[in-house]
Amino acid sequence: MTNKVALLAGGAMGYKNGGPSIGGASAIRLAKDGFKVVVVDELETGQKTVDIIKNNGGDGIFMKADVTSTEAIQTVLAETKSEFGGLTCLVNCVARYGPGMFKNVAEISEEEWNKTLNVNLNGYFKMAKYAIPLMLESNGGTIINISSIESFVAIPNFSVYSVSKAAVDALTRTLAVDFAPKIRTNAILPGFVKIANSENDRSPEELQKWYESIAKQYPMQRVCEVDEIANVVSFLAGDESSYINGQSIVVDGGRSIADLHEF
Ligand SMILES: NC(=O)c1ccc[n+]([C@@H]2O[C@H](COP(=O)([O-])OP(=O)(O)OC[C@H]3O[C@@H](n4cnc5c(N)ncnc54)[C@H](O)[C@@H]3O)[C@@H](O)[C@H]2O)c1
Repeated sequence: MTNKVALLAGGAMGYKNGGPSIGGASAIRLAKDGFKVVVVDELETGQKTVDIIKNNGGDGIFMKADVTSTEAIQTVLAETKSEFGGLTCLVNCVARYGPGMFKNVAEISEEEWNKTLNVNLNGYFKMAKYAIPLMLESNGGTIINISSIESFVAIPNFSVYSVSKAAVDALTRTLAVDFAPKIRTNAILPGFVKIANSENDRSPEELQKWYESIAKQYPMQRVCEVDEIANVVSFLAGDESSYINGQSIVVDGGRSIADLHEF
């Protein structure tokens, strides 16, 4: 029998200071849940995630890899099998944020459009495509795709990101139908989440102001912490979600069901 083994694609801690990231928090949480964790990212700070896992008494390895490369994915999966014997959970959590992608459909270049879909959609597709045989060999498990509320609401001038996330939700449903009951697949759709990589050069005071202005759009009146997404990853990866399959689970503090205008 294969032990609990999870692969977290996009699991590096924040690139600036090793600060919070959704993938890092999820990897650390899965390790606490008893998974051996393979952290995959193109950033070296994936090692920081594994260091934290090990300091907490867990087990994991970091493999630097680009999830758009079939060859790199196959190397990662071969290593996963030889190190831990199989794979029972895949979490897709990468995202591309190129400066040229913050544009509307009329303005974005075809190159930016394609590059973004290649990571945000094809990266998820390829990880699933090549991981599924190993998961089936390991007697099944769960796939969790980190999507976004942007799959059904649109931020101005963020066109390709929204499209990529809508496609991830559709990918989630098709995987759920094709591979149940052996593999359950679900998506998590966060609203804004506080992560190190989006701090840019803002001072602590500027950051606080920024978070406060975003929080005004949220009934919870605050922004989401990475652990609040990692908790849902843990639930979907575990047996307590055993009959949840093919769902897009919104974790946005009520943002997308609220109309907060004043009368
Ligand atoms: N932060 C938010 O507010 C928010 C909201 C909704 C959804 N999300 C989703 O959460 C997930 C995590 O992203 P994040 O926004 O927290 O940013 P992030 O920068 O912390 O995480 C994205 C990670 O993906 C890695 N990555 C990018 N391209 C890669 C590639 N080709 N190969 C390997 N690794 C690659 C990056 O190095 C980075 O570590 C993404 O799917 C994102 O769309 C984030």
